[in-house]
Amino acid sequence: MDFSFLNVGVATVALGIITPVFVGRVFLNQKTLPNTPPAVPGLPLIGNLLQLKEKKPHQTFAKWAEAYGPIYSIKTGASTVVVLNSTELAKEAMVTRFSSISTRKLSKALTVLTSDKNMVAMSDYGDFHKMVKRYILTSVLGANAQKRNRSHRDTMIENTLSQLHAEVKHNPLEAVNLREIFKAELFRLALKQALGKDVESIYVEELGIKFSKQEIFNVLVIDPMMGAIEVDWRDFFPYLRWVPNRSMEMKVQQMAVRKAAVTKALIEEQKRRIASGENIDCYVDFLLSEGNTLTEEQLTMLVWEAIIETSDTTLVTTEWAMYELGKNPKCQDRLYREIQEICGNQKVTEEHLPQLPYLTAVFHETLRRHSPVPIIPLRYAHEDTQLGGYNIPSGSEIAINIYGCNMDRKEWPEPEKWKPERFLEGKKDMDLFKTMAFGGGKRVCAGALQAMLISCTSIGRLVQEFQWRLDEGEEENVDTVQLTTHKLHPMKAIIATRENYSLQVQGVEEEKEEEEEEEEEEVEEEEENDKQGDQTTPDGRIGEPSSSRMRSCQEFAEIVSDRIRTT
Ligand code: HEM
Repeated sequence: MDFSFLNVGVATVALGIITPVFVGRVFLNQKTLPNTPPAVPGLPLIGNLLQLKEKKPHQTFAKWAEAYGPIYSIKTGASTVVVLNSTELAKEAMVTRFSSISTRKLSKALTVLTSDKNMVAMSDYGDFHKMVKRYILTSVLGANAQKRNRSHRDTMIENTLSQLHAEVKHNPLEAVNLREIFKAELFRLALKQALGKDVESIYVEELGIKFSKQEIFNVLVIDPMMGAIEVDWRDFFPYLRWVPNRSMEMKVQQMAVRKAAVTKALIEEQKRRIASGENIDCYVDFLLSEGNTLTEEQLTMLVWEAIIETSDTTLVTTEWAMYELGKNPKCQDRLYREIQEICGNQKVTEEHLPQLPYLTAVFHETLRRHSPVPIIPLRYAHEDTQLGGYNIPSGSEIAINIYGCNMDRKEWPEPEKWKPERFLEGKKDMDLFKTMAFGGGKRVCAGALQAMLISCTSIGRLVQEFQWRLDEGEEENVDTVQLTTHKLHPMKAIIATRENYSLQVQGVEEEKEEEEEEEEEEVEEEEENDKQGDQTTPDGRIGEPSSSRMRSCQEFAEIVSDRIRTT
């Protein structure tokens, strides 16, 4: 996201010397319309930049909303930014007025890191966006693709749980770092979905270096995330674009070169696999066969996008949910009781999710209170439009402050409190898009279904198998990384295996044996039926899958993907 205010001081000095020449030109170019949103008072030339120096713009914007109302404008140097802080306004911008504000305004750093908008999330709305969004939904993130990728998610969750059990067994009194384990498993899943395979290391010929898995993670995920919030004060003063800022340019350029080189090497490895006759149902195989109009640069960007997007926001949500559950034992108990009642001796699976309303409420309340994307990447009004009854001149940037929407007192009583119960009351019941955390309209998050399946199932299993208590001093550990809601320090929790866990494992084993026996009997019966030409299933239905659990998972996925399509 394009807000950073570190170098405001430098900018101010530069401005003192240069602005008299340019100001006239800038103001002459600026269009004025009547009835524009109220403006937050700022300083001449730099506008409100100094007021944003604490670098938590989503929080500052929400505070300003209390004084200036849900829509107002600010000045970041030469640009006018209209800030929206209510669900109603956000929906107006994302749906009703979408055609006038469908383009993005990217910072210099993001322009370099996204190869000038060559990916789904950062492209402007148009033919390229429609094509590549269809690609990622068909191959990776849509309901059918998620069904095909099910085993990757199951493995990921199983691995996470077994590592936690091992830690508790060896160091029962030591706090665990869920993030370390979850992050590695999520990255493994990202690689499998994107490349078809987990990768331990890669030799990158272009750079003459072999990268370990940790180094691949740093280059593909950590560096670009930090680069995306890198400061270039010239973003605020486009008329000073010609002033060099070499250190910043070099830093971001190097990140982009390394990221592209590593992704290309990973793709090359998969091309060799495909040439040897081994095809896998994954994104790169899909793009190489379907996306034949893509340039090499676009292919590289799209594969990288699938990796980075899988690796971050789901982790942020799950970690905050476990923080809140560790801090609120009553909520944790309520969730545990719900799971016990519904799942009994079975492990929580995706099929159980529609029957676990409190678990879903925990997920949504976490998205509301700790929205992983606190401000939607800036949009740009390319023609005059209206929002909230005000005129918005073309050339304005639009900041949809999701955090502000989700902390709006009118909509959410006591918004600073984390209370999953609020999602079980009245109309808010289970509305996936009530919090706006996934955005909305034509640019709605393509990964909402995957995020929900992974996060909800993981939270369910983590609470089913362990009791969670925050480590000492951890409650106050709520600081976040710069402009994001990513916890600055990983959550540390003391966990204890639930007393009935061994029973549960035993129960599951017994149940598995029973299921296997039943399956064998069913197969025998079906074979017998086939011989007799009878298509009736053992429980009397015709042509339907014999497991009712399969149906409910399918329904669940369909409801969510319907929402993605129709919102
Ligand atoms: C809790 C987790 C997540 C949250 C809160 C979230 C939130 C968002 C938001 C707010 C947007 C921007 C919508 C806009 O510009 O109007 C977005 C877009 C997007 N997200 Fe997510 N996201 C999450 C997980 C994921 C995952 C796991 C993936 C993929 C693996 C993903 C892929 C995308 C893509 C491709 C877009 C671009 C859609 C478009 O421009 O049409 N997201 N997401």
